[in-house]
Amino acid sequence: MPKLCVIEGDGIGKEVVPAAVRVLARAVEGLETVRAEAGWGTFQERGASVPEETLAAVRACGAALFGAVSSPSRKVAGYRSAILTMRQELDLYANLRPVRSLPVVSPRAGIDLLIVRENTEGMYAGRERLEGDTAIAERVITRAASTRIGRKAVELALAAGRHRLTVVHKANVLPVTDGLFRDSVLQAARELDAAGRGLVVDELLVDTAANQLAGRPEAFEVIVTTNLFGDILSDEAAYWCGGMGLAPSLNWGRDAAIAEPVHGSAPDIAGRGIANPIAAILSGALLARYVWALPAAAERIEAAVAKALECDLPASGASTEQVTEAVLERLGKI
Ligand code: NAI
Ligand code: MG
Repeated sequence: MPKLCVIEGDGIGKEVVPAAVRVLARAVEGLETVRAEAGWGTFQERGASVPEETLAAVRACGAALFGAVSSPSRKVAGYRSAILTMRQELDLYANLRPVRSLPVVSPRAGIDLLIVRENTEGMYAGRERLEGDTAIAERVITRAASTRIGRKAVELALAAGRHRLTVVHKANVLPVTDGLFRDSVLQAARELDAAGRGLVVDELLVDTAANQLAGRPEAFEVIVTTNLFGDILSDEAAYWCGGMGLAPSLNWGRDAAIAEPVHGSAPDIAGRGIANPIAAILSGALLARYVWALPAAAERIEAAVAKALECDLPASGASTEQVTEAVLERLGKI
């Protein structure tokens, strides 16, 4: 039976995660859930943003749904972002961020791309320091992590019958770090015989990729990139889903996975019952598809979301509860 560790986190995480759990419990038969804590609130109460027992609960379940964390943008002694801690501690090395046109809310139809973001190193290696009046951040790229994410992207692209994989980097300015990333991914593609299996692997500089994502997003199929570029490009691409309230993601490692909406804790709307739960609901569908190997359950959830959107709910300022009810109602009919 699939097991799910439920971690609401901060802000609107406390509103959208319960909504998504209701939908998952309806779509996945026999789903067992356990609750765990993480986030800024947890840090303030207990002095750790991710208590040991939370990591143990995610490991034991193998799958978690996480809401969002509120991270202060100034250094706080002893604090590290909960989601960054979990990604690194659990070695969730691949961050999958699918971007698909949704009915009514998407500004454009026909977009269906997957961003595969390296999730453990790069600018997020946590090596930042002050030397007098000079602030330094080290950007760490290893052959092992680049090869691993390259293999994952190729395997995902092939499994989904995709024909184009684009390696996004900035090797013209960062020839050593991004050169290693690019070369490792291309090598992984050669080793997996991507070309022989019908997958064209090309490359783009990140600024050009950002421009093309805005201009002709339908040209992309799968993008693989480093941690920070993946973060920024996936927020940009979330525009095509219809906004931050609609973009899902999955942090995926060998032994565990954490699904989470791309958005943050949205303090501007937290506590008002108006957060859109669809990003969290679609993140739950990613667990069903990739982690529990229940593609039919994932498709049912995605179809129920599409049907709920067709009745124009979120566009008309519906509450979290109304959107959740609309999805549950359609789920019952699929
Ligand atoms: P945000 O994603 O929380 O909010 C950006 C904008 O999108 C806000 O106007 C918000 O109201 C709106 N929005 C986000 N989710 C929505 C939803 N489900 N329904 C309707 N509107 C939604 O990003 P922001 O404001 O830059 O960051 C707020 C906090 O979240 C910060 O402390 C930041 O560190 C944290 N954060 C956490 C992330 C995570 O847990 N993975 C990711 C991004 C930010
Ligand atoms: Mg982001």
